Amino acid sequence: MTALKETQLLTAASELLANMVLFAKGVHVFISSVAEGAKGIVIVFEDRGPGIENVAQAMAKGFSTNKGLGHGLPSAKQLCDEFYINTSVGKGTTITITKYC
Ligand SMILES: Nc1ncnc2c1ncn2[C@@H]1O[C@H](COP(=O)(O)OP(=O)(O)O)[C@@H](O)[C@H]1O
Ligand SMILES: [Mg+2]
Repeated sequence: MTALKETQLLTAASELLANMVLFAKGVHVFISSVAEGAKGIVIVFEDRGPGIENVAQAMAKGFSTNKGLGHGLPSAKQLCDEFYINTSVGKGTTITITKYC
């Protein structure tokens, strides 16, 4: 993986981790390599926080419920090749990102 891609992945990961620490509890992070056929890294961020009621709103640039800049989620998505968010109000949030080499 190039240094640029590595930096992009780590930036995305730090934004997601910061959100989970700030907004949720019971955080687990799983890191693995892409299963087959390609080279890359998959990171799964899982929390047992409040969940996100309106994902489209949360993914929009500038939206924050915390007087933050509101760029963490949209930037993380932009910096990765794949970005999946699965969230359930009252249960938690799981975000899976993939960056290919
Ligand atoms: N893991 C999470 N659990 C619950 N809500 C979250 C989580 N991550 C993000 N959010 C919600 O999405 C909003 C946008 O997140 P983000 O783009 O990182 O902006 P910011 O961190 O500046 O608020 C947050 O303000 C919060 O309401
Ligand atoms: Mg954030």
